[in-house]
Amino acid sequence: MIRVAVFASGGGSNLNALLEAVQSGRLDASIVLVISNKAEAGALQIAREYGVPAVHISQKSLPSDDEFNKAILTALKEHGVDMIALAGYLKKIDSCIIREYKNRILNIHPALLPSFGGKGMYGLKVHQAVLDYGCKVAGVTVHLVDEEYDTGPPILQRCVPVEPDDTPETLAARVLEQEHKIYAEALQLFAENRVKIQGRKVSIK
Ligand code: GAR
Repeated sequence: MIRVAVFASGGGSNLNALLEAVQSGRLDASIVLVISNKAEAGALQIAREYGVPAVHISQKSLPSDDEFNKAILTALKEHGVDMIALAGYLKKIDSCIIREYKNRILNIHPALLPSFGGKGMYGLKVHQAVLDYGCKVAGVTVHLVDEEYDTGPPILQRCVPVEPDDTPETLAARVLEQEHKIYAEALQLFAENRVKIQGRKVSIK
């Protein structure tokens, strides 16, 4: 069974959805570790409620970037992690971690990449940008993580309609509902060893 670490900086609703998917048998994986860069992140609380080891690893309390990355890698090794799922994690993943977990780090982004992604595109800002552009559809992307923000190849994407009276909040809620389904589905594809990756080309067997 694949052993997954979830990285989260915020409320942790995606983490919660993954834990529920494991519990209900929709996701054949074990969530063995949750890491947050924010001590007060709701995600850490959720992890503890499920009895999952939850650690706060912050750059601010460590002397250098190197020490920060080492602390993360040590925790991942200690818990025998096979895959990492970023779920609202605000920090860029260092290339030393990407090398170690090549093609085994996923991120969920609340838009149809490559639109509305990149540095600073997080949470409600994304949905505001979708509405400002006048898009008729919005959506969600689960993608592999590479060295840049939101540029790795998609694994799964799903659309939702934009309604004429949407606010960033109502659109976010519609997208989040899909996030809570699609992330477990994407991880399940890895659990079943159905994902073939050749460069940017991802095919699902
Ligand atoms: C989610 O909507 C996720 O897609 C988004 O942050 C939210 C975290 O919510 N991530 C990004 O915007 C990444 N650029 P959660 O803490 O409730 O899972």
